[in-house]
Amino acid sequence: MARGRFILLEGCDRAGKSTQCAMLVAALKEKGYAVELCKFPERTTTIGQMINAYLTNAKELDDQAIHLLFSANRWEAMQAMKNKLREGVHLVVDRYAYSGVAFSAAKGLDLTWCKNPDRGLVRPDLTFFLDLPTSEAEKRGGFGEERYEKRELQEKVRHLFHELKGKEWVMVDARSSVQAMHETILKTALDKIQEAQNEAQSGELLE
Ligand code: TYD
Ligand code: MG
Repeated sequence: MARGRFILLEGCDRAGKSTQCAMLVAALKEKGYAVELCKFPERTTTIGQMINAYLTNAKELDDQAIHLLFSANRWEAMQAMKNKLREGVHLVVDRYAYSGVAFSAAKGLDLTWCKNPDRGLVRPDLTFFLDLPTSEAEKRGGFGEERYEKRELQEKVRHLFHELKGKEWVMVDARSSVQAMHETILKTALDKIQEAQNEAQSGELLE
């Protein structure tokens, strides 16, 4: 059996990541694939609760400390994610290390320092970047109460995402309709999954 594919959706706030993740999971399930949704931050763990307290302004933490907690929140999920992928389950992931680096670097932390704690995490097979100009994001109901939901920071984050983007990223214009975005994402994801099924050998290494 081919291992599952790791499909990541990254992007700016209000771009529709969570909606698209849910639609992708539902569509793949409907086609009979084993698929699960993961999201970062995963706020239910002990570390996730500390992150939640920080994001909701209930707790103050140094920029470096919160950065490492976000990374630890991914590391604590790693074994379970690897096991799922080995079992052939596809993972649709809502934010990952790119968010980790972009948000912390936008606050002024050194880019290389920001990247280091996430080195060695399982690499996505496919990354969609849902891009939305900050002015458009603001029109979508404005930013809420959480710590990073401010225009100036969001501009910097978007800029950093563009600096981080790899050749293999699939750019999705988040100004498009929900349905149009879904169709693009689903088609590309299905191609990637098909490619996995065509791979001759099972039991390949994850990393
Ligand atoms: P978000 O995806 O907006 O969570 P929710 O859908 O529950 O509102 O993530 C919360 C915030 O955390 C968001 O502003 C991005 C930020 N973030 C980081 O700063 N570092 C990280 O590593 C991750 C995953 C998110
Ligand atoms: Mg949010």
